[in-house]
Amino acid sequence: MDKLVITGGVSLDGEIRISGAKNAALPILISTLLVDDPVTIRNVPHLHDVTTTMELLGGMGVDLLVHECMSIEIDSRPIKNFFAPYDLVKTMRASVLVLGPLLGRYGKATVSLPGGCAIGVRPIDQHLKGLEALGAKISMHDGYIEAHVDGRLKGAEIVTDMVTVTGTENILMAAVLAEGKSIIKNAAREPEVCDLANFLNKMGAKISGVGTDTLVVEGVDRLHGGEYTVIPDRIEAGTYLAAGALTRGRVKLKNVAPDIMTAVLEKFSEVGAKITLGTDWIELDMMGRQPKAVNIYTSPYPGFPTDMQAQFLALNCVADGSCNVVETIFENRFMHVQELQRLGANIIVHGNTAAVIGKPSLIGAKVMATDLRASASLVLAGLMADGKTTVDRIYHIDRGYECIEEKMSQLGAKILRIPSR
Ligand code: EPU
Repeated sequence: MDKLVITGGVSLDGEIRISGAKNAALPILISTLLVDDPVTIRNVPHLHDVTTTMELLGGMGVDLLVHECMSIEIDSRPIKNFFAPYDLVKTMRASVLVLGPLLGRYGKATVSLPGGCAIGVRPIDQHLKGLEALGAKISMHDGYIEAHVDGRLKGAEIVTDMVTVTGTENILMAAVLAEGKSIIKNAAREPEVCDLANFLNKMGAKISGVGTDTLVVEGVDRLHGGEYTVIPDRIEAGTYLAAGALTRGRVKLKNVAPDIMTAVLEKFSEVGAKITLGTDWIELDMMGRQPKAVNIYTSPYPGFPTDMQAQFLALNCVADGSCNVVETIFENRFMHVQELQRLGANIIVHGNTAAVIGKPSLIGAKVMATDLRASASLVLAGLMADGKTTVDRIYHIDRGYECIEEKMSQLGAKILRIPSR
């Protein structure tokens, strides 16, 4: 397994380009199952999860052609099976998103249950409840969800019990080709959900209320082909801004969408960073100052994203003062705490709150990545640790960060990938 070795103590200074959003690209690629003609998706990030999605679609018989700069041409017409195997679903939970489009377009799907995950139980009951409300018949056999519908799905009103990102996406994709009107209440408003809805609308869907908690879908008979560009990754952007902030440096990001990062940018201002914005760029400058500790409370968009919690926890470990970081979305998303403690961080966890007392720097050690964002927080902590920090099991990072060592190096970090033998 590859490792990253970081030599801490360098104040970052530089400029990088942010990739397309993983959590928008995955549902958009999968939603091409709904489209009758070829589709070209641009600004797709070069990530392990994207490769897994291509493997999943390819296994169903979909034609995929990767052009330069990760633009992908997809033709789902040759599809010959409607099956998502356990081997792929277990490595990438988002595979479960094939359920909605397969049911909507072909009336049948067999998809492995995803099982547990490092950050929480993550059930998919809301996905299934929504699909059943649209008329799907669902049963479980040998760890697989068997779903079918006689004829077409029928529009319905659905209220999800909690705000769920992929739950909203699955129900939305199913509703697009359903007969009549569907109303999805308590819908997730995350920019990635909006990007999926905008893509579907561009291909002929009739979805209104995009960006609100009520999505209204007028079912259509077919979607046509076309081209679409995925939005920039706000979590990747936030991670590099955190790297700049905790190393007391300056970081400029290109190809970003500052308007979808308000909650995170406010926190960077609170830590003492000077933030300058353009329409598609952000510059963060700490002017050599130690960041101030900030309280964090995660919540669905437009609140502070759970996907930035670990990175701000790392930042708070080297900040001036003390704070509380409260995780409200996932019940087990503090796996990075024990690893940060190995680097000398001062953190105590009580229930869903991590109390942090900052210190000027940490001490390098060997640590282990447990999930995607936890891994990113260990790389960040390594940037402010004396000596060398080795982060093991970085396949988690490769799922969601394109060339992290190259981008960090471009900003001046001393970071090296050690490939597994
Ligand atoms: N939940 C249920 N039942 C459901 C669905 C969700 O109880 O049927 C619960 C979850 O267990 C969790 C909460 O609802 O406690 C919210 O989960 P959500 O469904 O919104 O999460 P998700 O759709 O599985 C996506 C992202 C995650 C991100 C979360 C929250 C993708 C592919 N994944 O997951 O991204 O953390 O939304 O914003 O979009 C990551 O990129 O590192 C990542 C984990």
